[in-house]
Amino acid sequence: MPKPKVLVTRVIAQSALLKLSQALEVEVWDKKSPPPYDFLLDKIAGLDGILTLLTDPLNKDLISKASSRLKVISQMAVGFDNIDIKTATALKIPVGHTPGVLTETTADFTFAMILAASRRVAEGDRQVRQGIWEPWGPDILTGQEVFGSTLGIIGFGRIGQAVAQRARGFKMKILYYDKIRQPKLEAELGVVFAEMDQLLNQSDFITLHTNLSAETLHFINQETFNKMKSTAILINTSRGGVIDSLALIEALQKGKIRAAALDVYEVEPIPQDNPLLKMENVIITPHIASASIQTRERMALMAAENLLAGVRGEKIPYCANPEVYQ
Ligand code: DGY
Repeated sequence: MPKPKVLVTRVIAQSALLKLSQALEVEVWDKKSPPPYDFLLDKIAGLDGILTLLTDPLNKDLISKASSRLKVISQMAVGFDNIDIKTATALKIPVGHTPGVLTETTADFTFAMILAASRRVAEGDRQVRQGIWEPWGPDILTGQEVFGSTLGIIGFGRIGQAVAQRARGFKMKILYYDKIRQPKLEAELGVVFAEMDQLLNQSDFITLHTNLSAETLHFINQETFNKMKSTAILINTSRGGVIDSLALIEALQKGKIRAAALDVYEVEPIPQDNPLLKMENVIITPHIASASIQTRERMALMAAENLLAGVRGEKIPYCANPEVYQ
């Protein structure tokens, strides 16, 4: 019997590739950049499974080209907004993802962003490299204090909660907003539920931890910026589309907020002519919040587990559209 055929759209951890290649015929796209859309279009009909990254646009047209052979789409990420879940579900294709394993890594990185933006770490580093080291002075690169300040967490799922745990060590007052209020966690983590307006106008730091959906697209926009403190610092390690980029640029240019630290953008890679790249009070990193060596291996193994279960016709363990099994 021929082995089931799968495509892995980038080189992932060797331990995961090894597991896959023991049971499957594996084709790996081994370039640094994602496979072109046409390549995926060409391949999809001949596959039993596909392991994707968030840079692969699995839209309606592409998924509809799959044959009845395709038993699983396994995404190596917790987010899956690049995949048209509706179409996959209609075709009864389970979509796997990797929740949980990147929670702590992403929360660590969020805190790195809070600290770096508030204490102007990147700016200081840039100045020194450019040969600017002003003599020690009382107001050189003074920033915003983190200890004891107010943190507003928007989206109180796993990652939002892990950020709250870290914030407790900094004796921050922690406000959270989510569609679902979680009284048990409020007591456990010492956090306070706030309506959006209250969170926006009281927080010194606002950090975003929602997924991207029609509901959260441009959740942070001109109107919400107008309600923030002029000293607020905005952190985004979720998805770029949660913030209206034009409104963000305007808010920073007009001093509606003090700074921003962004790991994700509406368009990735961020275009080189984006005005944010010229702003000293903006930290920009290339979507690396989950990028620890250990976490990336855990994500790859989890995605491999989903892929293997899927092609064998078994229920995949970490499924983004469990309705397919009903
Ligand atoms: C995810 O998993 O969705 C992150 O954005 C990348 O790790």
